[in-house]
Amino acid sequence: MDRLDAPARLMIVSDLDQTMVDHHDPENAALLRFQALWESEYSQDSLLVFSTGRTPVSYRGLRKTKPLLTPDITIMSVGTVISYGEQMTPDVGWEELLNNKWDRDIVVQETAKFPQLKPQPERNQGPHKVSFLVGKQGAQEVIDFLPQKLQQFGLDVKIIYSSGEALDVLPQGAGKGQALVYLLDKFSLCGKPPNNVLVCGDSGNDADLFSVPSAYGVMVSNAQEELLQWYEEKGKDNLKMIHATERCASGIMQAIGHFKLGPNVSARDLEFPYPKVDTIKPADAVVKFYVLYEKWRRGEVQNSPSVTQYLKSITHHNGILIHPCGTERSLHASIEALGSWYGDKQGKKFQTWVDRLVTSPIGTSNWLVRFDNWEMEGDVQYCCRTTVLVNTKPETPEGLELTHIHKTWLEGYSAGNGHTFIL
Ligand code: GLC
Ligand code: MG
Repeated sequence: MDRLDAPARLMIVSDLDQTMVDHHDPENAALLRFQALWESEYSQDSLLVFSTGRTPVSYRGLRKTKPLLTPDITIMSVGTVISYGEQMTPDVGWEELLNNKWDRDIVVQETAKFPQLKPQPERNQGPHKVSFLVGKQGAQEVIDFLPQKLQQFGLDVKIIYSSGEALDVLPQGAGKGQALVYLLDKFSLCGKPPNNVLVCGDSGNDADLFSVPSAYGVMVSNAQEELLQWYEEKGKDNLKMIHATERCASGIMQAIGHFKLGPNVSARDLEFPYPKVDTIKPADAVVKFYVLYEKWRRGEVQNSPSVTQYLKSITHHNGILIHPCGTERSLHASIEALGSWYGDKQGKKFQTWVDRLVTSPIGTSNWLVRFDNWEMEGDVQYCCRTTVLVNTKPETPEGLELTHIHKTWLEGYSAGNGHTFIL
């Protein structure tokens, strides 16, 4: 919560399944495009919030198989759990608020009287979330009758139906929208209300997000019927909301452009050779460096000496790379060595991305850029905590050069072989 000293330029609050993450895209192309944009243009002064129906257990499972960034804030279990930072420190105050007019045992007891409700697996349940699978018609009966029944026990609940199959019973004060309002109040109290908020979703449990006043909203092109219907009935007057023509994370990028919330061209969409930049942006240069590295190993950029030349031009000729296994190598020699790895990952679902990128100026012409550098092949992920020292150098295409790269394995994510993290 305290990562930024000033109000966030942009706060993106996005659902995960079928919004940020496209389960029909095994290459995760749109997700990686969005994330490269986020790290190069926004991570420094903006906030990324994931808001998912998944419980913490199920969210962690998704992180193991998808190349997701680490968000600043994670809202889970349909707005009943809020946690902060990489450590996912829970907001205990929020969970206490949700005890108001809520008794999980009574909810379980009364819902058992609806035979059409099939409980979801235990890992999908939470202290303030009782979840079922049920068809549309069966759901309607529960929506019509369960709240009154529970009122007789002094409970006040909210029922949310998503993706034409999932029904969640939550405390009335819960939900993705209420959790966001709670966070926005917190930011206002400490004098840092975000300049702009963009909420993104695809299904019924996201409607709540689109009801938050002052937020811009995007329903991705692949939004579910129940959300589109909600939009027709209740959301149409919200002029700050669009139904994107693009799927998932590409729809989010489309909305950033539509509402003019900032740049929306990803480093992944740039053709090589990259045009010379007007302003020096160390974060952007680092993101482009690793995008090019990935494209080289996937054989998706031309196999030309101009790539090696570019990489050499933005690295100091005496620069050093400290590999995570402890060896010290010349940066230029490592770039030369990369030459023989062209296309070695072709067809292997190999991806690299940077996460948690922070740029700190040192004096007037140097920066320390810190980030987590991930490599993934299939479902296996490796990661290095990475530090790069950057100098201004006006004559290079990026207006700067990388002089020193230092990598250390992130615990639990080290790789045994020497074919990872060549740069
Ligand atoms: C996610 C959760 C599920 C929930 C659904 C709708 O899929 O895993 O438990 O019912 O979102 O909110
Ligand atoms: Mg979804």
